[in-house]
Amino acid sequence: MLYCAQGTRLGSSDPKGCFNIGLPSGKSLFQLQAERILCVQKLAAQSSESPSNTMPIHWYIMTSPFTDAATRKFFETRRYFGLDVDQVTFFQQGTLPCVSADGRFIMETPYRVAKAPDGNGGVYAALKSKKLMEDMAARGVKYVDCYGVDNALVRVADPTFLGYFIDKGVSAAAKVVRKAYPQENVGVFVQRGRGGPLSVVEYSEMDAAMTTEINQSTGRLRYCWSNICLHMFTLDFLNQVANSLEKDSVYHLAEKKIPSIHGYTTGLKLEQFIFDAFTYSPSTALFEVMREEEFAPVKNANGATYDTPDSAKLMLLRLHSRWVVAAGGFLTHSVPLYMTGVEVSPLSSYAGENLEAICRGRTFHAPSEISF
Ligand code: UD1
Repeated sequence: MLYCAQGTRLGSSDPKGCFNIGLPSGKSLFQLQAERILCVQKLAAQSSESPSNTMPIHWYIMTSPFTDAATRKFFETRRYFGLDVDQVTFFQQGTLPCVSADGRFIMETPYRVAKAPDGNGGVYAALKSKKLMEDMAARGVKYVDCYGVDNALVRVADPTFLGYFIDKGVSAAAKVVRKAYPQENVGVFVQRGRGGPLSVVEYSEMDAAMTTEINQSTGRLRYCWSNICLHMFTLDFLNQVANSLEKDSVYHLAEKKIPSIHGYTTGLKLEQFIFDAFTYSPSTALFEVMREEEFAPVKNANGATYDTPDSAKLMLLRLHSRWVVAAGGFLTHSVPLYMTGVEVSPLSSYAGENLEAICRGRTFHAPSEISF
C-alpha cells in the first residue's frame, strides 16, 4: 500500500509519484514502483510449482482530494505501466480544518474553511471508511506492506522483508537505517519506558538534546534507528489500529503557511502520522537495511543540500552500477563515474539478481538504462 501527497517541497503541485528524478530512462517514481511489483510477481511465478496459480500483488494507492484526479489520469494515460487495471485501487485520504494559533478556523473563502490533508496516518481512517480492509480480506490479503512514495530505491513488496515479518510472528515491523547524522530529518524509533512499546518520535517533535544524545556505552547516537516509511502490518492489526486511532483521536500539529481569504497566513495543520500505529502493536520488529540499497529520499528540489531528485538519482545509479559490475559487466563513462552510472530496469532485476546472463563480459556506457 502506497501513500502519496503533493510534491510541495519539490516545488510541484503534482502528485509526488509523477515526479521524474532524471534517470536515463526518464521513469517516474510511480513507474519504478509499478515495474518492481511486476518483477516480484514474475520472480514469484518462476519459483512457484504452479506459476499460473500465483496471485497478483494488489496495489492500494492513497491519494488526497488535491491529487486524486491527476494520479488516476497519470496511470490511465500510461496504461498502468503494464499492471492489470484490476490490481490497482485508488482511495482518498481525508482533510482536516486548518486553525490559527488561537484556535480559530482559517477561512479559505468567506464561506469555506481552509482544509489540508489529514497526514499519512489518515490512511487508517480512510481504509476504514472505504471498507478497504474488508476488500483486502476478500482478496485473501494477510500482510500489508505500507510505504511512502518519495523513495527512489523502495523495494515494494520485498519478499525478504515479508519472510522476516512472518518468521518473527509480529503484528508490525519497520525497515530502519542508521541515522546518518544527528540533525537528519528523520523520525527515530524509541522505546517508551522499560518493556514499553516501540514507537516513533518525529524529527519535528524532538528537542536538540534528544537529537544529539550519545549512548555512553556505545559512543553512538542514543536514538539512531531511523524511520524510513517502510512498514509491514498484519491485516488484523490494521483493523485494530484503525479502531484505536479513531477512539483516541491522536493528532500532531504542524505550523505551515495556509492559503486564506487574507492571503497566505501562518496557521496550524492537524495531521495523523502513519507510524502512530506502532504504539498499539503488541509486538514490533525492526529490520535494519543498507541505506545505499533501500533509501534514496526525494524530498527537496534540486539545489537543496540533501534529499533531492539529483541525490536520489545518483544513489540509484551507483547501486545499479555495482550490480552490473558484480555480475561481471564493465562500465565506460564520459563524465566522472561519481556523477553518473547505469540504470537497470526493474523489469529486468528487482534487487540485482539475474544479471549475469546479460552483463558478464559486456561493456555498458554510462549513463544509460539496461533493459532486457
Ligand atoms: C517522513 C516521516 C519521517 C521519516 C522520513 C523519512 C512521517 C510523518 N514522517 O518525513 O518519520 O523519517 O519521512 O524519509 O511519516 N503523505 C501523505 N499524506 C499526507 C502527508 C504525507 O500521503 O497528508 C506522504 C508523503 O507523500 C510521503 C510520506 O507521507 O510519501 C512522508 O511525507 P512527509 O509528511 O512530508 O514526511 P517527511 O518530513 O518526509
